[in-house]
Amino acid sequence: MSIETHIEKVVETPGILVVYWANGEVSNYPYLYLRDNCPSLSTIHSNGQKLIETSGINPAISPENTTLTEENEVQIDWSGEEHSSLFSAQWLFDHRLSKAAIAERHAKRNAMDRKVLWDEKLNNNLPAGDYAAVSASNEALCVWLEQVRKYGFAILRNVPAEPGMVCKVVSLFGYVRETNYGKLFDVKTTVNPNNLAFTSLGLSAHTDNPYRNPTPTLQLLHCLQSSAVGGNSIVVDGFKVIADLKAHSPQMFHLLSTTPVTFRFADQYNHIKRTETIIGLDVFGEVNAIRFNNRSVQPFEVDEDHMTAFYAAYQYLAKLIDDERYFVQFKMEASDLFIVDNERVMHGRSAYDGTAGQRFLQGTYADRDGLLSKLSVLKRDLARLVKSA
Ligand SMILES: [Fe+2]
Repeated sequence: MSIETHIEKVVETPGILVVYWANGEVSNYPYLYLRDNCPSLSTIHSNGQKLIETSGINPAISPENTTLTEENEVQIDWSGEEHSSLFSAQWLFDHRLSKAAIAERHAKRNAMDRKVLWDEKLNNNLPAGDYAAVSASNEALCVWLEQVRKYGFAILRNVPAEPGMVCKVVSLFGYVRETNYGKLFDVKTTVNPNNLAFTSLGLSAHTDNPYRNPTPTLQLLHCLQSSAVGGNSIVVDGFKVIADLKAHSPQMFHLLSTTPVTFRFADQYNHIKRTETIIGLDVFGEVNAIRFNNRSVQPFEVDEDHMTAFYAAYQYLAKLIDDERYFVQFKMEASDLFIVDNERVMHGRSAYDGTAGQRFLQGTYADRDGLLSKLSVLKRDLARLVKSA
């Protein structure tokens, strides 16, 4: 036990247990918080799920007795119930409640989840894996999924050019997200298409399905045939674009992250809509999504005093997204697949000549949480293997 996780003494005060650490730090823990998070198996299952109702705890609960054990654990015998809680020094240290301690843990988690923002320079070093390797080896799968986590985009090569393989790739890390387009959808030129994607026209970079709630967070596209001229795939890191937009104009960033915008899709069988901001922020105010799809966006409902400023921000963003300095471009050959984080990395394509050859892709959606869960489990299991070797 290091000096910082060694407890010198504990003192009961009204409503709060005060812990004095050997390094001089002092931490306060409300009794209600301690009772609610008692680590005993009658309170928390071994899988981490809480077994008690927080609402049922007396908000004025207090200890009958508190002891610092020889093992440097804190034992609390609760007043008014036949129950004792035993907290390790490590648990108490890991759950210090000062603003500084909470901020430190938040920064640590952020550092572990750090994403790498990119622009055209990533063309020199495309994140890519090989299907045979990732389907046969947990290490290779872990490396590929980590690329998806870090860059929001990765290529997978040598995926057999057979229908349905795109769903098989999803089964390596999660589950297909079925939509009105089906479990998977074909992307090739069709007559009377219900979506611009099913034509041979160019498509500027966009996120898919912002009209859906929840929006699918991953998209995969697999190439089965590629003999048409043109039709390069383009991907753009929306988080990099947003970072640059924010540096250029915090006011534009503010408008795009606070103004509600509606996206909509309708055809004979569907009518789907969602109202959200173009730049999504998480509860800490950090960017966690971009929703950009000029085809499905509806007339902005911004008051007349602010419409001009909103358009300036929207057009500035759209021009950045269309700026080749952000483009990662590649021609998909048969058996190539790529995956994008659909709330971070936008995808598009240049126009192709659909009369002089074939271009046939299959796509599907999946969810990021399943991929991150699989990645987390793989990292844990591989670390255990390394430890036991
Ligand atoms: Fe798309």
